Amino acid sequence: MANSESRSHSLHLALIAAATGDEMRATELAALLGLPLLETGSDPVCCESGNAVLIVNAEALYLQQTGRGAPGPVFVDFGSDGMRHRRRSGANELLGRAVGVGKKSPLSVMDATAGLGRDAFVLADLGCLVTLFEREPLIVELLRAGMRVAADTGDPWLAAVSQRMHLHSGDVRTLKVSDLQGVDVVYLDPMFPQRSKSAAAKKEMALIQTLLENSSNAEEAGSLLDWALALNTARVVVKRPAKAPSLAGPPPSHHIAGSAVRFDVYVHRKLC
Ligand SMILES: C[S@@+](CC[C@H](N)C(=O)[O-])C[C@H]1O[C@@H](n2cnc3c(N)ncnc32)[C@H](O)[C@@H]1O
Repeated sequence: MANSESRSHSLHLALIAAATGDEMRATELAALLGLPLLETGSDPVCCESGNAVLIVNAEALYLQQTGRGAPGPVFVDFGSDGMRHRRRSGANELLGRAVGVGKKSPLSVMDATAGLGRDAFVLADLGCLVTLFEREPLIVELLRAGMRVAADTGDPWLAAVSQRMHLHSGDVRTLKVSDLQGVDVVYLDPMFPQRSKSAAAKKEMALIQTLLENSSNAEEAGSLLDWALALNTARVVVKRPAKAPSLAGPPPSHHIAGSAVRFDVYVHRKLC
């Protein structure tokens, strides 16, 4: 199911091993992602060969914009204060209700647009078995690194949750009905919201938006919904910005709305 094809975007990327001990892993990743490898320990501030670098060190994988005054790195950290706050504040309940947590145990969810895996982690934390699919190879590697850190961190909560997550790379639309045997719910979060003054994405996330700029369009999102609705799962759930219209296609059976996001739920049959 691997797919090394990357969509076109305006980022010029290179890869840096933070220290000599990271060189083997960096060389493997550079080959996998088709990126030039810069001198070990190069400083991203002074780097002139691209507008972002992927930094490999013993603990993690970071995507860092280059140049002076660049925002902080992007990396997957499931144990971050933000993820813990999201958990404590009850913000995860809407997603849980949308997929049907509590109606079947264990509930098997395919997160077909995994991105940086935050929603998948929330679902796994709510007890779901989550299969993650992501097609952008660089994002797959950021996610893989974050999942490894969570599994190895020594924090029993992070380790237990990450055990319920299974990552695959490639375009999810290549999967057929028979590949989704046992999956109860397909979850789609196809698009990062457009950048705007009122809902400015954090500066770090602008880098990810640039990376995905040619893959987050309404037509692609509609085709993902068509694909998902043709599968034999009990429900399909689509995350949308709160005020955005539903994706083109049949209307959802119902929706669950929060202040910033809305989950459109397409029910095919009862979860049991
Ligand atoms: C908005 S992000 C998802 C964010 C994610 N829900 C999270 O919590 O981090 C959408 C992701 O879906 C991926 N994607 C879009 N279409 C896809 C497809 N057909 N197959 C697999 N991944 C896809 C994009 O590469 C992008 O990383």
